[in-house]
This record gives sequence, C-alpha cells and structure tokens, in this order.
Amino acid sequence: MTEVQTSSRATTRGVHGQAGQSGPTHLDIERVRLEFPILREKVHGKSLVYLDSAATSQKPQAVIDAMSHFFLKENANVHRGVHYLSERATDAYEGARAKVKQFLNAKDVGEIVFVRGTTEAINLVAQTYGRTHVGADDEVLITAMEHHSNIVPWQMLCEEKGARLRVAPITDAGELDLSELERLIGPKTKLVAVTHVSNVLGTVNPIRQIVEMAHAHGARVLVDGAQAVPHLRVDVRALGCDFYAFSGHKMYGPTGIGALYARSELLDEMPPYQGGGDMILSVSFEKTVYNKAPAKFEAGTPNMAGAVGLGAAIDFLGGLEHEALSAHEQDVLDYGIRALSDVPGLRLIGTASGKASVISFVLDDVHPHDIGTILDREGVAIRTGHHCAQPLMNRLGLPATARVSLACYSTRQDIDALVSGLEKVREVFR
Ligand SMILES: Cc1ncc(COP(=O)(O)O)c(C=O)c1O
Repeated sequence: MTEVQTSSRATTRGVHGQAGQSGPTHLDIERVRLEFPILREKVHGKSLVYLDSAATSQKPQAVIDAMSHFFLKENANVHRGVHYLSERATDAYEGARAKVKQFLNAKDVGEIVFVRGTTEAINLVAQTYGRTHVGADDEVLITAMEHHSNIVPWQMLCEEKGARLRVAPITDAGELDLSELERLIGPKTKLVAVTHVSNVLGTVNPIRQIVEMAHAHGARVLVDGAQAVPHLRVDVRALGCDFYAFSGHKMYGPTGIGALYARSELLDEMPPYQGGGDMILSVSFEKTVYNKAPAKFEAGTPNMAGAVGLGAAIDFLGGLEHEALSAHEQDVLDYGIRALSDVPGLRLIGTASGKASVISFVLDDVHPHDIGTILDREGVAIRTGHHCAQPLMNRLGLPATARVSLACYSTRQDIDALVSGLEKVREVFR
C-alpha cells in the first residue's frame, strides 16, 4: 500500500502472532475473528461471509463493552456538571478526543472536532471555512472519484457563492490524472477536496503530492479519509493536509461519531457551524461570545458513548500490529483480485497500482443487484449499486458495480465462498 505514513499509533494489545524481536509478525486471524461476535451469525442457514466493510465495519467486543460500560458506569452530560458522574463522562469523552489526536498524529487535541461522521465533517468545512473563503468566481477542485459527500457540499457552496466546481479526471485504471489535477489548480482555487482511498475503486491517492501542488498555489486541502483510516496509518502532519475527515463506523467504531481534524490556526478563525449549548462562553440577547475550538464546533449534547466507542476502536486497531494487519489485508486483497480475475465473464473495475481493500466488478450482463441477491442466499454479503458515486459511475459508463470490501477479519476463505457464490450466479444466468 502506498501513502502509508508513520505515526505514533501505539501497540496496546497483541492480536498478532508471536515472532522473534526483529522477525516478521503475522496477524492471528482466528483470534481477530473471535473478537467480532457477529461473525458467528448464520445467514440463510450459512455462515456469514461479510464482504461489505467499506459500507460499515463490524464491531469488536471491546467496542461493544466500552459503550455499555459508559452507560452502566459513567453516563451523565459532559462539560456541565460538577458532580462525580459528569466529571467521569467528561473524562471519558475528552479521553477519546486525545486518542483521536494520537491516532492521526495531530499536534493538539484542540484540532479534533467530534462530528457525526465524514459527511458532517465535510459539510462543516464547507459551511464555515468555505462560506468565509470561497467567493464569486473562486474555484473548488474535487476529483472524478469522490463520494457524494465530498461532492454535494461543495456544489451547494459553489451555487450559493457563484463559485465554480472543477473536477480532476481519472484514468481508465481508476487513478487520478495528476498532471491534469495540477493543471486545474490555479490562483482561483481556494480548496482541493480529495478522497484518500476511493470507496469504489480502492485507489489510494498520493495525498502528500496533491497537498504540495495545492499549497504551492495557496489552496487548502481537505482529505476524505473515510476509507483510509481502517487500513492505512494516517499522519496528518506528514500528509500536510489542512482538513482530514473520517467516520468511526468504518473503522470498527460505532455509527453516529467521527472526527474532523483541522489545523488549529484554521479552526481559530473559522466561524461556528451550529449555535447552541457548549459552543459559547457567554450569551446575552445582545451578543454571544463563542467558545474556542473544538467546543466552538460542538453545539449541543455530543455523542458521548459514541466517542467512547470510537476511542475503544482506536485501541483495538492499535492492538493489531500495523505491519501484520497491512500484510494480511494485502494478502486477502491480492488473493481476491487473482481469484476474481479467473471467473469467466468477470471484469474488474479499478486496477490502480496502489489499492486498499476494495474490489469492484461487473459480471457479463448480469445486473449487480442480481449478483448481490444470489450471493446473499449463500450467506455472502457484498454491496451493489452506485456506491454514492454516481458521477464516477457515469465516467466508467456503468449504472452500477458489485463491490467486495475487506477488513481485518476478512480471509481467503471468504473469497473462496464469494467465488463459489459467483458460480451459482453464472449457473442461474447461463
Ligand atoms: C469515501 C467515502 N467518503 C465519505 C463517506 C460518507 O461517510 P459517512 O456516511 O459515514 O458520513 C463514505 C461512506 O461510504 C465513503 O466511502
């Protein structure tokens, strides 16, 4: 995998095989799988084969336990009370923020804003930084492989401001055309918004290089990290990006929580996103004085249990020795690509040289929904459709694809089950 940045992500618990001090470690996949209770479920009488982790990952017991512990032992509203439980809840919530800071290697906890997920993080930047810095005739540059959540907020902003949304093209293999992207960045470009890993193609984009291109023209860079954080080591300082957005639920955490990283100088000058409790220092009918970041961007009672669950997910990922995890996921990905390439009539969509954990394909003229439905009867869960990337589908000339996506618990056996299921699909449509 490319664009793997070093970070201080700590190894807290070993879920990887023992090895000599300097020897290679391997992921103890049986132990990893035991941590995910849902993987023991049967679907239509078959063992569950979950290949839809890019939509949402399954949750390890440690995350489930951390959240129930919060409700059982620590639940109270944060930041407001002087009583014991409120202090414990605040410590748990702010402790989770410190874990996110460490996870991304941000400089300061104040650079981490809790949000509902990637979508909210991007909307926050568009509505605050965007509305104050993008004016008429300015440009926002995105790419042809973005998820709708990294398209629509910019489109809305550009419409409101009379600015122009520009789109960097991709090659047929599903890689960014970097020279075109560079050509599209100019004095009018205020912001470049790009995905770290494509949710359809699996392409890993060279973020540091893109940041250098953008910064050379004074443009800020927002990275959509939704599909990167479960797989890559992300170091926002090494990447040099201005904003980084991700969701907890795609990286073994709960739904309804995610984070926006933004450099503190930017957060300090950005106006608030929503008004309400906690984001203020004082309120009168004449004037409100806002709190400082990150509280300024967290109006109302936050998702405290969600933040605690996200913290537990970060600990879980930290417990998987990164090189071992990466080697395991790459092995299953390579095995999957080889196995699917051998299925007659199957065409892989997205063949970039640097890919992470996503394989899209089409099979003869069978509609992807039919593929997904037949596979489901075999206990195999995949995703089919446009994957919230309709402009990318148009570029590819396809209405939809079938998509297999992997996580730490995925195995070669999962791929074997998928390939047997595809045999059934071929029999039905022969
Ligand atoms: C690349 C990418 N960006 C953004 C999102 C949106 O994430 P969420 O729905 O968690 O806000 C997704 C979700 O699939 C995604 O894959």
